[in-house]
Amino acid sequence: MAATLPAEAAPTGRALVIHPTPKRLPRARNGDARSPVSRLQEAIALAGAIDLEVAHAALVPLSRPKPATLIGSGSVASLGSIVKDRKVGVAVIDATVSPVQQRNLEKAWGCKVIDRTGLILEIFGARAHTHEGRLQVELAALTYQRSRLVRSWTHLERQRGGFGFLGGPGESQLEIDRRLITDRIVRIKKELLDTKRTRALHRGARKRVPNPVVALVGYTNAGKSTLFNRLTNAAVRAEDMLFATLDPTLRRLSLPSGRTAILSDTVGFISELPHQLVVAFRATLEEVTEADLIVHVRDIHHPDTEAQRNDVHTVLSELGLETQVEHGLIEALNKIDLLEPEARAALLNQARRNHDEVPVSAATGEGCDGLLALFDERLDGGRHLVDLDVSLTDGASIAWLYRHGDVVSRRDDDERAHLQVRLAEADLGRFRSRAAAH
Ligand code: GTP
Repeated sequence: MAATLPAEAAPTGRALVIHPTPKRLPRARNGDARSPVSRLQEAIALAGAIDLEVAHAALVPLSRPKPATLIGSGSVASLGSIVKDRKVGVAVIDATVSPVQQRNLEKAWGCKVIDRTGLILEIFGARAHTHEGRLQVELAALTYQRSRLVRSWTHLERQRGGFGFLGGPGESQLEIDRRLITDRIVRIKKELLDTKRTRALHRGARKRVPNPVVALVGYTNAGKSTLFNRLTNAAVRAEDMLFATLDPTLRRLSLPSGRTAILSDTVGFISELPHQLVVAFRATLEEVTEADLIVHVRDIHHPDTEAQRNDVHTVLSELGLETQVEHGLIEALNKIDLLEPEARAALLNQARRNHDEVPVSAATGEGCDGLLALFDERLDGGRHLVDLDVSLTDGASIAWLYRHGDVVSRRDDDERAHLQVRLAEADLGRFRSRAAAH
């Protein structure tokens, strides 16, 4: 079958990266204030994530998208000379490019052309480590391919290696028709369903040992894996590479209270994540949707940190987690070691007012104790650990404490029981008034 994942065959080569910018930028929605330059930088980083060597990168002004080539003929010509001079093998266009535009540009430039979705799919393909992750990427790639076949079926005679975005003639000459793709999609879906069932069984087993799950989410490169390692002392790959993490990784985490939680590290999010990928990764992200606590890891040093925050919120909402986005998220404001002293002081000040924000540095470990303490507190639903002495003759009160709280420890002397109990705020109040009444 053509669409096996090319994890080891990640494409390499010299690349041209362009970001087409409309002459009149649409009004920023959702507080997205990313500049075209920073979008271009992100596209360069994405290309680097699959080992493309960026030979030239540029913003290309776009007065009106051209149906045949997207960008204007002047740009096609000038970029064409650059492709030739710099021996570019792949042109990455950080936009949505139709199959017809792709084909025309490939013809004009004599190199491969991929768009943003194609690039992200390639990255996901190269980074998926588990069987399930690979299946999901393949599913996303096939769905994307099929949607393009519908529009330009007659033009696309050949399936070109890998996912079909970067391969060349000779890599895979297999002809795939829509029916074959559809058959494969059906089979993958079935296989995914089986894996999902197995995972649900495992989760069920975990739930029987009632360990709460804490899920780390965040924009790609925010530092999730580094924080995951820092908190659990586990060795998960942390690379200065986008999307180093594609499969959720679970580790046991000891909290200051002595409680054990499961920490889950998940895939990095990104703006304009192809819809197929959001759908495809929904299954993997089940760990997130069923987590007891979601921790949003943010790169607070990144110039686009606010826009990235909005992107992550959008994806979480698409996963049906609007309520958590509005109320329940903890924000780990990561990479504070990189901030200038004033910015750092301002952030620490702000965090003192907002209890759900914890400035941390996954790199140095600063702030991590506070973060773990907050996990404890939130998992307890605002419960307090209190020391209480109760007369042994007051059996009713002792029983009341066992009923309403978690008795963590108990030592009896001749007259009194010395109890350490975890109690909700309201129950603590009730217990005190109860004791006063006696
Ligand atoms: P994806 O797998 O792409 O989603 O990335 P991630 O969020 O898991 O990021 P990762 O932990 O791989 O970190 C990305 C880069 O940021 C690496 O080079 C880390 O060394 C660096 N990094 C992470 N945390 C910190 C931090 O607190 N301070 C500094 N200076 N660098 C950090």
